[in-house]
Amino acid sequence: MNILVTGGAGFIGSNFIRWMKQHAPEHRIINVDALTYAGNLESLRDIPQDASYVFIRADIRDRAKLDEVFSQHDITHVVNFAAESHVDRSIVDPELFLTTNVLGTQALLDTAKLHWKSNPEDKYSREYRAGVKFLQVSTDEVYGALGREGLFSEASPLMPNSPYSAAKASADLVCRSYFETFGLPLNITRCSNNYGPYQFPEKLIPLMIHNCMEEKPLPVYGDGMQIRDWLHVFDHCSAIFAVLIRGEMGEVYNIGGNNERTNLEIIRQIIHSLGASEELIHFVKDRPGHDRRYAIDNSKITTRLGWTPSYTFEQGISETIRWYQDNEEWMEHVLSGAYTEYYARMYAPSFRE
Ligand code: NAD
Ligand code: TYD
Repeated sequence: MNILVTGGAGFIGSNFIRWMKQHAPEHRIINVDALTYAGNLESLRDIPQDASYVFIRADIRDRAKLDEVFSQHDITHVVNFAAESHVDRSIVDPELFLTTNVLGTQALLDTAKLHWKSNPEDKYSREYRAGVKFLQVSTDEVYGALGREGLFSEASPLMPNSPYSAAKASADLVCRSYFETFGLPLNITRCSNNYGPYQFPEKLIPLMIHNCMEEKPLPVYGDGMQIRDWLHVFDHCSAIFAVLIRGEMGEVYNIGGNNERTNLEIIRQIIHSLGASEELIHFVKDRPGHDRRYAIDNSKITTRLGWTPSYTFEQGISETIRWYQDNEEWMEHVLSGAYTEYYARMYAPSFRE
């Protein structure tokens, strides 16, 4: 396979490239990333550029560039990670989320269709060259929020609550339409919250680890009793590979590891692992539209594709905390001036209250 990985300099994309190098090194990876604030080539410092791995700085909304990449590298598969991914930022700048996550995905779909369709001029033709696939990496957040009971299945209605999840849900629907209307071979995966190395410290787990290490206040939104279903990023990567290889065309697969925790449980575990003080906990104003609970029913991917997660949360979180302790230099480098400005804008008013 010649796999176009978009957003491969971000958290999950860079771990996917690393996972592929370890588990399926026979495939070529072409990593296209715009290197926004969330993209960092230092997250790929252990991946040498050679015949089997190429990095190209480009925006997924740049159709001319995508066309060039597909032609030059004979792309057979797309794994689309590229997105604006942080809910808090989507509350401040929804438009960027819509253009990147929706129109960027559509530009990729159009380019794949053009290059893979046997007869691109014929709008009725549904024939594609053999062995191609587009995999849209989506999120459980498209289903909205759960109450105390229940799980998201692939049949749950799409009820996104944030501009981020609305943009991801919209991209999913555009993908669905390209399968139904054009027969473009594709899958959509919807994963729960990931944690692991190389995650940008605006997300809960790396932010709390970093702040504990710096003895800075830990901003807990609302009452801290919101629930997320946490999965180690390498388990997400192995699930994506299973879908890429064995997923039935047109199908959606939920990915999750049955590991629900409240935010406060996670934060206390980090505090105790690092020997920090619970006095660092600061309850701040809640996120607007904050989803109370996410939880995944993973029975479709486990029974139909034989995927199972390999990390327990205890093992994964302690390895992750150790990774951030051992990689302070990586953290320092990603915390550029732009991050400092974001952090001040996002949290300073809460700490003043
Ligand atoms: P991230 O923010 O760490 O990385 C996103 C990457 O996309 C960055 O490298 C960025 O430079 C790149 N990018 C952004 N806009 C781009 C553009 N216009 N063109 C090219 N590249 C662009 O995000 P992540 O946490 O690695 O998430 C990756 C994908 O997985 C996203 O689509 C997200 O919706 C999905 N997802 C994330 C989680 C999670 O817990 N992090 C869970 C489920 C699904
Ligand atoms: P986040 O990592 O932003 O992921 P998502 O909102 O996509 O699930 O947040 C995870 C949970 O942690 C979410 O309920 C919001 C909460 N949270 C805080 O309480 N404080 C923080 O500073 C951050 C970043 C998140």
